[in-house]
Amino acid sequence: MKGIILAGGSGTRLRPLTKVTSKQLLPVYDQPMIYYPLKTLLDGGIRDILIIVAPDHAGDFLKLLGSGKEFGCKFTYEIQDKPEGIAQAFIVGQNFIGKDSVTLILGDNIYEDTFKDAITSFKNGGRIFIKDVNDPQRFGVVEFDKNNQAISIEEKPKVPKSKYAVTGMYIYDNTVLEKVKSLKPSGRGELEITDLNNLYLEEKNLDVAFVDGQWFDTGTFESLHEAIVFIRNRELAKKKKE
Ligand code: G1P
Repeated sequence: MKGIILAGGSGTRLRPLTKVTSKQLLPVYDQPMIYYPLKTLLDGGIRDILIIVAPDHAGDFLKLLGSGKEFGCKFTYEIQDKPEGIAQAFIVGQNFIGKDSVTLILGDNIYEDTFKDAITSFKNGGRIFIKDVNDPQRFGVVEFDKNNQAISIEEKPKVPKSKYAVTGMYIYDNTVLEKVKSLKPSGRGELEITDLNNLYLEEKNLDVAFVDGQWFDTGTFESLHEAIVFIRNRELAKKKKE
């Protein structure tokens, strides 16, 4: 199993904070944002990790993360020239992935849960992680039939068909490399991860798992603040126990 952290994008919703640095390098309490998704991959036993960054601050990521030695893993770096969608990570990363399966995590997603079992038990197809949220229209949203089977996923629907958002971690078998080549850019000019998930869903090959603990997509000031408060309280509680 290979791992990818996608830390591209221009972070426009967090301007002016992101004028001089990348969103994924901003602090979330006492650590840079990207440490959290990195820990999620490491915790899942993944040791070979590709970090995809935007050209502007590539050097800062290298400075912060280095070879991976410090974290007991190996980092490879690639540049995503333009923010042309999450699914583009599999085109940028195709040589890195080779013949393996891959877990992709977004560099601005923070999970409380551990995904050790979900990652190590993965065999084939695709696996996504969903969470009930109050603002589903911000996300990919899953539609279920009467038997609670997922039947479709819609990207940022105006009228969401459920409260279940697709969170920013995805596990795929090696067929992802073929599937991504068949995608066409969406209306917003991106290769959509939602379209990729729908391909697995059409094949009846998409496992939909629930996220029990807290989850944050820290791409807005509100959610970034919530994540910082959550992490701070968790760390202070830990210190008190010690
Ligand atoms: C992206 C995906 C969306 C997913 C979300 C999770 O949204 O397009 O399907 O629910 O990440 O964080 P974006 O970061 O483009 O708003």
